[in-house]
Amino acid sequence: MKVMAAPPETAILQVDDLSVCFETSRGSVQAVSGVSFAMAKGEVYALVGESGCGKSTTALAVMRLVPPPGRIRRGHIRLGDEDLLALSDEAMADVRGRRLAMIFQNPLVSLNPVYRAGSQIEEAISLDSVPRPVAWRRAIEVLGRVRIGDPAERALRYPHELSGGMRQRVMTGMMISRTPDLLIADEPTTALDVTIQARILDLLMDLCSHSGMALLIITHDLGIVAEIADRVGVMYAGSLVEQAPVYELYEDPLHPYTRMLMRALPRLGKGQGRLETIPGSVPDLIALPAGCAFHPRCPERLAICASQTPVSRVVGGGRTVACHRGEVDR
Ligand SMILES: Nc1ncnc2c1ncn2[C@@H]1O[C@H](COP(=O)(O)OP(=O)(O)OP(=O)(O)O)[C@@H](O)[C@H]1O
Ligand code: SF4
Ligand SMILES: [Mg+2]
Repeated sequence: MKVMAAPPETAILQVDDLSVCFETSRGSVQAVSGVSFAMAKGEVYALVGESGCGKSTTALAVMRLVPPPGRIRRGHIRLGDEDLLALSDEAMADVRGRRLAMIFQNPLVSLNPVYRAGSQIEEAISLDSVPRPVAWRRAIEVLGRVRIGDPAERALRYPHELSGGMRQRVMTGMMISRTPDLLIADEPTTALDVTIQARILDLLMDLCSHSGMALLIITHDLGIVAEIADRVGVMYAGSLVEQAPVYELYEDPLHPYTRMLMRALPRLGKGQGRLETIPGSVPDLIALPAGCAFHPRCPERLAICASQTPVSRVVGGGRTVACHRGEVDR
């Protein structure tokens, strides 16, 4: 898929024709294939799709943290005017601390168990040559911003002395303490209870609207998507098959996979009883089916679908879709 979504005028992130593979003993796993999207300053962009469709790998590629045996095979990633794939490792590490940050699903993995919560945030802040006492005061302010009660006291606690929700907020605090241009959150709230989940999402949205931070969020929860996203990208088998402003995607999903996904994932105000599963499963990314990768599961497939890969095309209003049926019907 080589067609770009019309880039927002103030694009902070521009991903163009990104392909990532994992070279395994079984063969080359095509985790991400020709993904292109752009994000504006302050925008919340949600990536959705079934498990194994390449969402996390796309996010890790933007961070340049795809683990071995993975490698970025092709494409361009720009953060503002910085060409991320052309930077030295050192320059990239600097961008990662300053302009780009990522919240992982399990904060225990990312928080250092031997440092107090406040010290970890202080450390991040002092990277900007802020004197320690000032950085400590700011760390406590940050803990207050992520809505941790009694922040001065909690700053002294070690990660294992905090609840899961608090750890997630400390982690969020660490990531936002230097106000990145782009924050990536991969299933940031999956392990949390609903109240804490809502607080963290509120906080992230606040940051986007007040500091202009852009947020790339990966979630399985279409309720969350409806609540916070401006635009949504739907991934299937490593490709971005549709992207649209959130309201339009929900009102008029164009891709058959999006339609099925909407019926299968939890939606705001819809009971679990209404969920349907999508028959079949995501194909083996080592041996993708010819033509449209979704054709073996697609109830709307045409003769052409088994042999020709649909090209992503712009269908107006910042939407893109990759489906032969759309070419015929619309
Ligand atoms: N380290 C790895 N080695 C080999 N294959 C990998 C590795 N990491 C991911 N993959 C493969 O890449 C593909 C995309 O995985 P990815 O984790 O990006 O999917 P995802 O959409 O984030 O899924 P989930 O919703 O389950 O988190 C999958 O087929 C996965 O098995
Ligand atoms: S290209 Fe064909 S198989 Fe693929 S989603 Fe569209 S109609 Fe279905
Ligand atoms: Mg993932």
